[in-house]
Amino acid sequence: MKIGFVGLGKLGLPVALAVESKGHDVVGYDISDNVKNIIEAKKIPYKEIWAQDYLSKSKIQFTNLTNVVEHSEIIFVPIQTPHDPLYEGITRIPEERVDFDYTYLISGMKKLSDEIEKQDKEKVVIIISTVLPGTIRQKIKPLLGKNTKICYNPFFIAMGTTMKDFLYPEFILFGVDDLQAANTAEKFYRTINNATFFKTTIENAELIKVSYNTFISTKIAFINTIMEMCHKLPNTNIDDVTNALMLGNKRLISGAYLRGGMGDGGGCHPRDNIALSWLARKLDISNDFFDQIMKQREKQTEWLVNLMLENSINNDNFYILGKSFKPETNITTGSPSILLDNLLKEKGINATVYDPYVDEKEPNFKKGVYFIGTQHDVFEQFEFPKGSVVIDPFRMINKNQEDFKVIRIGDSNEY
Ligand SMILES: NC(=O)c1ccc[n+]([C@@H]2O[C@H](COP(=O)([O-])OP(=O)(O)OC[C@H]3O[C@@H](n4cnc5c(N)ncnc54)[C@H](O)[C@@H]3O)[C@@H](O)[C@H]2O)c1
Repeated sequence: MKIGFVGLGKLGLPVALAVESKGHDVVGYDISDNVKNIIEAKKIPYKEIWAQDYLSKSKIQFTNLTNVVEHSEIIFVPIQTPHDPLYEGITRIPEERVDFDYTYLISGMKKLSDEIEKQDKEKVVIIISTVLPGTIRQKIKPLLGKNTKICYNPFFIAMGTTMKDFLYPEFILFGVDDLQAANTAEKFYRTINNATFFKTTIENAELIKVSYNTFISTKIAFINTIMEMCHKLPNTNIDDVTNALMLGNKRLISGAYLRGGMGDGGGCHPRDNIALSWLARKLDISNDFFDQIMKQREKQTEWLVNLMLENSINNDNFYILGKSFKPETNITTGSPSILLDNLLKEKGINATVYDPYVDEKEPNFKKGVYFIGTQHDVFEQFEFPKGSVVIDPFRMINKNQEDFKVIRIGDSNEY
Protein backbone atom coordinates (compact mmCIF):
# COMPACT_ATOMS: atom_id res chain seq x y z
CA MET A 1 0.00 0.00 0.00
CA LYS A 2 1.00 3.65 -0.31
CA ILE A 3 1.75 4.92 3.18
CA GLY A 4 2.72 8.39 4.44
CA PHE A 5 4.22 9.67 7.68
CA VAL A 6 3.87 13.19 9.06
CA GLY A 7 6.54 13.28 11.77
CA LEU A 8 9.63 11.09 11.44
CA GLY A 9 11.10 11.36 14.94
CA LYS A 10 12.23 8.61 17.31
CA LEU A 11 8.95 6.74 16.86
CA GLY A 12 8.00 7.75 13.30
CA LEU A 13 11.21 6.91 11.46
CA PRO A 14 11.77 3.38 12.84
CA VAL A 15 8.09 2.57 12.28
CA ALA A 16 8.26 3.95 8.72
CA LEU A 17 11.24 1.63 8.13
CA ALA A 18 9.33 -1.33 9.58
CA VAL A 19 6.36 -0.58 7.30
CA GLU A 20 8.67 -0.32 4.29
CA SER A 21 10.27 -3.67 5.24
CA LYS A 22 6.86 -5.28 4.63
CA GLY A 23 6.86 -4.10 1.01
CA HIS A 24 4.86 -0.87 1.33
CA ASP A 25 5.68 2.28 -0.61
CA VAL A 26 6.50 4.86 2.09
CA VAL A 27 7.04 8.62 1.96
CA GLY A 28 7.39 11.03 4.87
CA TYR A 29 7.56 14.63 5.93
CA ASP A 30 8.89 16.34 9.05
CA ILE A 31 9.24 20.04 9.88
CA SER A 32 12.71 19.43 11.29
CA ASP A 33 15.77 19.85 9.05
CA ASN A 34 17.60 17.59 11.44
CA VAL A 35 15.27 14.70 10.53
CA LYS A 36 15.68 15.48 6.82
CA ASN A 37 19.46 15.28 7.26
CA ILE A 38 19.20 11.96 9.14
CA ILE A 39 17.22 10.43 6.27
CA GLU A 40 19.38 11.90 3.54
CA ALA A 41 22.64 10.96 5.27
CA LYS A 42 21.10 7.56 6.20
CA LYS A 43 22.55 7.78 9.70
CA ILE A 44 20.47 7.42 12.89
CA PRO A 45 21.94 9.29 15.88
CA TYR A 46 20.10 7.27 18.56
CA LYS A 47 20.42 3.58 19.43
CA GLU A 48 17.60 1.62 17.82
CA ILE A 49 17.99 -2.03 16.90
CA TRP A 50 17.60 -2.90 13.17
CA ALA A 51 16.88 0.73 12.24
CA GLN A 52 20.37 1.64 11.00
CA ASP A 53 20.57 -1.45 8.77
CA TYR A 54 17.13 -0.81 7.31
CA LEU A 55 17.77 2.91 6.80
CA SER A 56 20.98 2.15 4.89
CA LYS A 57 18.93 0.17 2.36
CA SER A 58 15.75 2.27 2.56
CA LYS A 59 14.07 4.02 -0.36
CA ILE A 60 11.82 6.12 1.90
CA GLN A 61 11.45 9.50 0.30
CA PHE A 62 11.58 12.62 2.46
CA THR A 63 9.19 15.05 0.81
CA ASN A 64 6.70 17.86 1.52
CA LEU A 65 3.20 17.70 2.99
CA THR A 66 1.48 18.06 -0.39
CA ASN A 67 3.31 15.05 -1.78
CA VAL A 68 2.67 12.96 1.35
CA VAL A 69 -1.07 13.60 0.99
CA GLU A 70 -1.06 12.98 -2.77
CA HIS A 71 0.89 9.74 -2.42
CA SER A 72 -0.76 8.06 0.56
CA GLU A 73 -3.82 5.92 1.20
CA ILE A 74 -3.01 5.94 4.92
CA ILE A 75 -1.12 8.71 6.73
CA PHE A 76 0.41 8.02 10.16
CA VAL A 77 0.95 10.97 12.51
CA PRO A 78 3.54 10.43 15.29
CA ILE A 79 4.06 14.09 16.24
CA GLN A 80 5.44 14.87 19.71
CA THR A 81 3.13 15.67 22.65
CA PRO A 82 5.76 16.68 25.21
CA HIS A 83 5.39 17.37 28.87
CA ASP A 84 7.05 20.40 30.37
CA PRO A 85 10.65 19.36 31.31
CA LEU A 86 9.62 19.86 34.96
CA TYR A 87 7.52 16.71 34.56
CA GLU A 88 10.11 14.52 32.85
CA GLY A 89 11.07 12.63 35.98
CA ILE A 90 14.66 13.78 36.44
CA THR A 91 13.76 16.28 39.18
CA ARG A 92 11.31 16.23 42.08
CA ILE A 93 7.75 16.48 40.77
CA PRO A 94 6.21 19.89 41.36
CA GLU A 95 3.01 20.09 43.43
CA GLU A 96 1.13 21.46 40.40
CA ARG A 97 0.20 18.94 37.66
CA VAL A 98 -0.42 19.68 33.98
CA ASP A 99 -1.62 17.93 30.83
CA PHE A 100 0.72 17.23 27.88
CA ASP A 101 1.51 20.01 25.43
CA TYR A 102 -0.63 19.42 22.33
CA THR A 103 0.41 22.51 20.34
CA TYR A 104 2.65 20.58 17.89
CA LEU A 105 0.04 17.90 17.29
CA ILE A 106 -2.80 20.41 16.87
CA SER A 107 -0.78 22.51 14.43
CA GLY A 108 0.43 19.47 12.45
CA MET A 109 -3.06 17.94 12.22
CA LYS A 110 -4.59 21.25 11.12
CA LYS A 111 -2.04 21.69 8.33
CA LEU A 112 -2.47 18.08 7.26
CA SER A 113 -6.26 18.33 7.18
CA ASP A 114 -6.14 21.63 5.27
CA GLU A 115 -3.94 19.98 2.65
CA ILE A 116 -6.32 16.99 2.43
CA GLU A 117 -9.25 19.37 1.91
CA LYS A 118 -7.29 21.23 -0.78
CA GLN A 119 -6.80 17.98 -2.66
CA ASP A 120 -10.46 17.11 -1.96
CA LYS A 121 -10.00 13.37 -1.62
CA GLU A 122 -10.75 11.21 1.43
CA LYS A 123 -7.68 10.03 3.38
CA VAL A 124 -7.29 7.75 6.38
CA VAL A 125 -5.25 9.61 9.02
CA ILE A 126 -3.96 7.59 11.97
CA ILE A 127 -2.72 9.51 15.01
CA ILE A 128 -0.12 7.58 17.03
CA SER A 129 0.95 10.28 19.51
CA THR A 130 0.23 9.75 23.20
CA VAL A 131 -2.66 11.90 24.45
CA LEU A 132 -4.93 11.88 27.51
CA PRO A 133 -8.54 10.65 27.16
CA GLY A 134 -10.83 13.18 25.51
CA THR A 135 -8.08 15.05 23.65
CA ILE A 136 -8.78 13.85 20.12
CA ARG A 137 -12.51 14.49 20.20
CA GLN A 138 -12.21 17.83 22.01
CA LYS A 139 -9.02 19.34 20.65
CA ILE A 140 -8.27 17.72 17.29
CA LYS A 141 -11.49 16.60 15.61
CA PRO A 142 -13.13 20.05 15.51
CA LEU A 143 -10.18 21.31 13.40
CA LEU A 144 -10.52 18.67 10.70
CA GLY A 145 -12.26 18.80 7.33
CA LYS A 146 -14.76 16.21 6.06
CA ASN A 147 -12.17 14.31 4.01
CA THR A 148 -9.90 13.54 6.98
CA LYS A 149 -10.96 10.11 8.27
CA ILE A 150 -9.34 9.99 11.64
CA CYS A 151 -8.33 6.98 13.78
CA TYR A 152 -6.31 6.72 16.99
CA ASN A 153 -3.73 3.95 17.10
CA PRO A 154 -1.19 4.31 19.91
CA PHE A 155 1.75 1.90 19.94
CA PHE A 156 3.17 -0.07 22.84
CA ILE A 157 6.78 0.18 21.86
CA ALA A 158 9.92 0.74 23.87
CA MET A 159 12.66 3.03 22.65
CA GLY A 160 15.59 0.97 21.41
CA THR A 161 13.36 -1.83 20.08
CA THR A 162 10.79 0.23 18.16
CA MET A 163 10.85 -1.72 14.88
CA LYS A 164 10.66 -5.09 16.61
CA ASP A 165 7.86 -3.99 18.95
CA PHE A 166 5.87 -2.57 16.01
CA LEU A 167 6.29 -5.69 13.87
CA TYR A 168 5.60 -8.18 16.71
CA PRO A 169 3.17 -6.48 19.13
CA GLU A 170 1.11 -8.12 21.87
CA PHE A 171 -1.98 -6.57 20.23
CA ILE A 172 -2.96 -3.63 18.06
CA LEU A 173 -5.02 -0.98 19.82
CA PHE A 174 -7.35 0.88 17.53
CA GLY A 175 -9.63 3.79 18.42
CA VAL A 176 -12.39 4.02 15.82
CA ASP A 177 -14.18 7.12 14.64
CA ASP A 178 -15.00 6.08 11.07
CA LEU A 179 -15.66 2.36 10.53
CA GLN A 180 -14.52 2.38 6.91
CA ALA A 181 -11.21 3.99 7.86
CA ALA A 182 -10.73 1.36 10.58
CA ASN A 183 -11.38 -1.41 8.03
CA THR A 184 -8.75 0.06 5.67
CA ALA A 185 -6.28 0.20 8.59
CA GLU A 186 -7.05 -3.39 9.59
CA LYS A 187 -6.39 -4.54 6.03
CA PHE A 188 -3.04 -2.74 6.19
CA TYR A 189 -2.16 -4.35 9.54
CA ARG A 190 -2.86 -7.82 8.19
CA THR A 191 0.15 -7.25 5.90
CA ILE A 192 2.28 -6.59 9.02
CA ASN A 193 1.23 -9.35 11.47
CA ASN A 194 -1.66 -11.39 12.86
CA ALA A 195 -1.87 -9.70 16.25
CA THR A 196 -5.36 -9.12 17.71
CA PHE A 197 -6.80 -5.93 16.25
CA PHE A 198 -8.61 -4.49 19.28
CA LYS A 199 -11.20 -2.01 18.05
CA THR A 200 -12.70 0.35 20.59
CA THR A 201 -13.76 3.97 21.06
CA ILE A 202 -11.20 6.72 20.62
CA GLU A 203 -11.50 7.61 24.33
CA ASN A 204 -10.97 3.98 25.42
CA ALA A 205 -7.89 3.75 23.22
CA GLU A 206 -6.53 6.97 24.72
CA LEU A 207 -7.10 5.61 28.24
CA ILE A 208 -5.74 2.10 27.49
CA LYS A 209 -2.48 3.53 26.14
CA VAL A 210 -1.64 5.56 29.24
CA SER A 211 -2.97 2.82 31.57
CA TYR A 212 -0.61 0.31 29.96
CA ASN A 213 2.41 2.57 30.54
CA THR A 214 1.33 3.34 34.08
CA PHE A 215 0.82 -0.34 34.82
CA ILE A 216 4.49 -0.88 34.02
CA SER A 217 5.46 1.94 36.38
CA THR A 218 3.22 0.38 39.03
CA LYS A 219 5.03 -2.95 38.76
CA ILE A 220 8.40 -1.24 39.01
CA ALA A 221 7.34 0.94 41.97
CA PHE A 222 5.90 -2.12 43.71
CA ILE A 223 8.91 -4.40 43.23
CA ASN A 224 11.36 -1.63 44.17
CA THR A 225 9.47 -1.15 47.43
CA ILE A 226 9.87 -4.86 48.14
CA MET A 227 13.56 -4.52 47.16
CA GLU A 228 14.01 -1.85 49.83
CA MET A 229 12.35 -4.15 52.36
CA CYS A 230 14.72 -6.96 51.38
CA HIS A 231 17.56 -4.56 51.98
CA LYS A 232 16.43 -4.15 55.56
CA LEU A 233 15.03 -7.59 56.43
CA PRO A 234 17.54 -10.29 57.40
CA ASN A 235 17.90 -13.31 55.11
CA THR A 236 15.87 -11.90 52.24
CA ASN A 237 16.84 -11.40 48.64
CA ILE A 238 14.80 -9.50 46.07
CA ASP A 239 15.75 -11.78 43.18
CA ASP A 240 14.51 -14.83 45.07
CA VAL A 241 11.26 -12.97 45.75
CA THR A 242 10.92 -12.04 42.05
CA ASN A 243 11.77 -15.57 40.88
CA ALA A 244 8.94 -16.92 43.04
CA LEU A 245 6.44 -14.21 42.08
CA MET A 246 7.14 -14.90 38.39
CA LEU A 247 5.90 -18.45 38.90
CA GLY A 248 2.49 -17.03 39.78
CA ASN A 249 1.90 -16.45 36.10
CA LYS A 250 -1.78 -17.36 36.17
CA ARG A 251 -2.87 -14.83 38.75
CA LEU A 252 0.02 -12.37 38.83
CA ILE A 253 0.73 -11.99 35.08
CA SER A 254 4.27 -12.04 33.71
CA GLY A 255 7.61 -11.35 35.31
CA ALA A 256 8.42 -8.49 32.92
CA TYR A 257 9.37 -5.26 34.76
CA LEU A 258 9.50 -7.22 37.99
CA ARG A 259 13.23 -7.07 38.73
CA GLY A 260 14.30 -4.74 41.54
CA GLY A 261 16.47 -1.88 40.31
CA MET A 262 16.22 1.83 39.58
CA GLY A 263 12.90 3.62 39.18
CA ASP A 264 10.96 3.71 35.94
CA GLY A 265 12.27 6.10 33.27
CA GLY A 266 12.24 7.14 29.64
CA GLY A 267 10.31 9.61 27.56
CA CYS A 268 6.90 8.01 28.17
CA HIS A 269 6.33 6.44 31.58
CA PRO A 270 7.10 9.10 34.21
CA ARG A 271 5.36 11.76 32.14
CA ASP A 272 2.30 9.56 31.55
CA ASN A 273 2.03 8.97 35.30
CA ILE A 274 2.19 12.66 36.02
CA ALA A 275 -0.33 13.48 33.31
CA LEU A 276 -2.72 10.86 34.75
CA SER A 277 -2.19 12.39 38.16
CA TRP A 278 -3.31 15.70 36.64
CA LEU A 279 -6.38 13.99 35.17
CA ALA A 280 -7.16 12.22 38.48
CA ARG A 281 -7.21 15.57 40.25
CA LYS A 282 -9.27 17.17 37.49
CA LEU A 283 -11.85 14.36 37.71
CA ASP A 284 -11.73 14.45 41.53
CA ILE A 285 -10.80 10.75 41.69
CA SER A 286 -10.94 9.61 45.34
CA ASN A 287 -7.24 8.69 45.52
CA ASP A 288 -4.57 10.06 43.17
CA PHE A 289 -2.92 6.65 42.75
CA PHE A 290 -0.56 7.96 40.04
CA ASP A 291 0.89 10.45 42.48
CA GLN A 292 1.79 7.53 44.77
CA ILE A 293 3.75 5.84 41.98
CA MET A 294 5.81 8.96 41.36
CA LYS A 295 6.29 9.57 45.08
CA GLN A 296 7.60 6.00 45.51
CA ARG A 297 10.18 6.68 42.81
CA GLU A 298 11.20 10.03 44.26
CA LYS A 299 11.33 8.94 47.91
CA GLN A 300 13.26 5.79 47.09
CA THR A 301 15.79 7.90 45.20
CA GLU A 302 16.12 10.04 48.33
CA TRP A 303 16.84 6.86 50.29
CA LEU A 304 19.53 5.93 47.73
CA VAL A 305 21.10 9.37 48.19
CA ASN A 306 21.22 8.75 51.93
CA LEU A 307 22.75 5.33 51.35
CA MET A 308 25.52 6.97 49.31
CA LEU A 309 26.12 9.56 52.01
CA GLU A 310 26.14 6.97 54.82
CA ASN A 311 28.89 5.14 52.98
CA SER A 312 31.12 8.09 52.18
CA ILE A 313 34.65 7.85 53.49
CA ASN A 314 35.86 11.29 54.65
CA ASN A 315 35.31 13.78 51.81
CA ASP A 316 34.83 11.02 49.35
CA ASN A 317 34.39 11.27 45.63
CA PHE A 318 30.93 10.33 44.42
CA TYR A 319 30.35 8.66 41.06
CA ILE A 320 27.21 7.61 39.25
CA LEU A 321 27.81 5.08 36.48
CA GLY A 322 25.14 5.43 33.80
CA LYS A 323 23.02 8.31 32.58
CA SER A 324 20.67 6.60 30.15
CA PHE A 325 17.28 5.52 31.41
CA LYS A 326 17.83 1.85 30.61
CA PRO A 327 20.62 -0.41 29.31
CA GLU A 328 21.69 -0.47 25.68
CA THR A 329 20.41 3.00 24.85
CA ASN A 330 21.97 6.44 24.94
CA ILE A 331 18.64 8.17 25.61
CA THR A 332 18.68 9.96 28.97
CA THR A 333 15.11 11.33 28.99
CA GLY A 334 13.37 10.68 32.32
CA SER A 335 16.42 8.83 33.63
CA PRO A 336 16.25 7.79 37.31
CA SER A 337 20.04 8.07 37.59
CA ILE A 338 19.82 11.75 36.60
CA LEU A 339 17.13 12.17 39.28
CA LEU A 340 19.63 10.62 41.73
CA ASP A 341 22.27 13.13 40.63
CA ASN A 342 19.84 16.03 41.04
CA LEU A 343 18.86 14.91 44.55
CA LEU A 344 22.56 14.58 45.46
CA LYS A 345 23.05 18.17 44.26
CA GLU A 346 20.35 19.27 46.74
CA LYS A 347 22.71 18.00 49.45
CA GLY A 348 25.57 20.01 47.96
CA ILE A 349 27.24 17.01 46.35
CA ASN A 350 28.51 17.20 42.80
CA ALA A 351 28.89 13.61 41.69
CA THR A 352 30.77 12.65 38.56
CA VAL A 353 28.20 11.05 36.26
CA TYR A 354 29.53 8.93 33.42
CA ASP A 355 27.89 6.82 30.76
CA PRO A 356 29.99 5.07 28.09
CA TYR A 357 27.03 5.23 25.67
CA VAL A 358 26.60 8.98 26.13
CA ASP A 359 30.01 10.47 26.95
CA GLU A 360 33.04 10.40 24.71
CA LYS A 361 35.60 11.06 27.42
CA GLU A 362 36.08 8.85 30.45
CA PRO A 363 36.71 10.77 33.68
CA ASN A 364 39.63 10.08 35.97
CA PHE A 365 38.18 7.61 38.47
CA LYS A 366 39.48 7.70 42.04
CA LYS A 367 38.65 5.88 45.25
CA GLY A 368 35.11 6.85 46.22
CA VAL A 369 31.48 5.86 46.41
CA TYR A 370 30.25 4.41 43.12
CA PHE A 371 26.56 4.04 42.34
CA ILE A 372 25.51 1.94 39.34
CA GLY A 373 22.64 4.00 37.93
CA THR A 374 22.10 2.14 34.63
CA GLN A 375 22.38 -1.61 34.13
CA HIS A 376 24.88 -1.45 31.26
CA ASP A 377 26.67 -4.82 30.91
CA VAL A 378 30.07 -3.07 30.65
CA PHE A 379 29.90 -2.10 34.32
CA GLU A 380 30.30 -5.76 35.27
CA GLN A 381 33.94 -5.44 34.13
CA PHE A 382 34.46 -1.95 35.56
CA GLU A 383 37.71 -1.58 37.51
CA PHE A 384 36.63 0.04 40.76
CA PRO A 385 39.58 1.74 42.52
CA LYS A 386 40.86 0.00 45.63
CA GLY A 387 39.06 1.01 48.84
CA SER A 388 35.89 2.15 47.03
CA VAL A 389 32.30 1.39 47.98
CA VAL A 390 30.07 0.20 45.15
CA ILE A 391 26.30 0.52 45.50
CA ASP A 392 24.59 -1.82 43.09
CA PRO A 393 20.78 -1.69 42.77
CA PHE A 394 20.89 -4.37 40.05
CA ARG A 395 23.02 -6.90 41.99
CA MET A 396 25.28 -7.27 38.95
CA ILE A 397 28.58 -7.09 40.84
CA ASN A 398 29.75 -10.16 42.72
CA LYS A 399 29.61 -9.51 46.45
CA ASN A 400 32.94 -11.14 47.28
CA GLN A 401 35.56 -8.56 46.33
CA GLU A 402 38.93 -8.10 47.94
CA ASP A 403 39.66 -4.54 46.85
CA PHE A 404 36.34 -2.80 47.29
CA LYS A 405 33.09 -3.16 49.21
CA VAL A 406 29.90 -4.01 47.34
CA ILE A 407 26.45 -3.11 48.63
CA ARG A 408 23.89 -5.06 46.63
CA ILE A 409 20.54 -3.41 47.16
CA GLY A 410 17.77 -5.81 48.07
CA ASP A 411 20.19 -8.51 49.15
CA SER A 412 20.02 -8.25 52.91
CA ASN A 413 22.88 -10.66 53.43
CA GLU A 414 24.96 -7.66 52.45
CA TYR A 415 23.38 -5.22 54.85
N1 LIG B 1 9.44 7.31 21.01
C1 LIG B 1 8.73 6.35 21.56
O1 LIG B 1 9.26 5.31 21.95
C2 LIG B 1 7.23 6.45 21.71
C3 LIG B 1 6.50 5.31 22.08
C4 LIG B 1 5.12 5.37 22.16
C5 LIG B 1 4.50 6.60 21.94
N2 LIG B 1 5.23 7.69 21.61
C6 LIG B 1 4.52 8.95 21.37
O2 LIG B 1 4.67 9.27 19.99
C7 LIG B 1 4.76 10.68 19.81
C8 LIG B 1 6.06 11.01 19.10
O3 LIG B 1 7.14 10.60 19.92
P1 LIG B 1 8.64 10.68 19.43
O4 LIG B 1 9.45 10.09 20.52
O5 LIG B 1 8.78 10.13 18.05
O6 LIG B 1 8.87 12.28 19.39
P2 LIG B 1 9.98 13.05 18.53
O7 LIG B 1 10.03 14.41 19.11
O8 LIG B 1 11.22 12.23 18.44
O9 LIG B 1 9.33 13.09 17.06
C9 LIG B 1 8.26 13.89 16.69
C10 LIG B 1 8.57 14.42 15.30
O10 LIG B 1 7.44 15.13 14.78
C11 LIG B 1 7.94 16.25 14.04
N3 LIG B 1 6.90 17.26 13.86
C12 LIG B 1 6.40 18.12 14.77
N4 LIG B 1 5.46 18.90 14.22
C13 LIG B 1 5.35 18.51 12.93
C14 LIG B 1 4.55 18.92 11.84
N5 LIG B 1 3.66 19.90 11.96
N6 LIG B 1 4.72 18.32 10.65
C15 LIG B 1 5.63 17.32 10.50
N7 LIG B 1 6.42 16.89 11.48
C16 LIG B 1 6.27 17.46 12.69
C17 LIG B 1 9.11 16.74 14.86
O11 LIG B 1 9.98 17.57 14.11
C18 LIG B 1 9.74 15.42 15.30
O12 LIG B 1 10.75 14.99 14.41
C19 LIG B 1 4.63 11.28 21.22
O13 LIG B 1 3.30 11.58 21.49
C20 LIG B 1 5.08 10.14 22.11
O14 LIG B 1 4.54 10.23 23.40
C21 LIG B 1 6.57 7.65 21.49
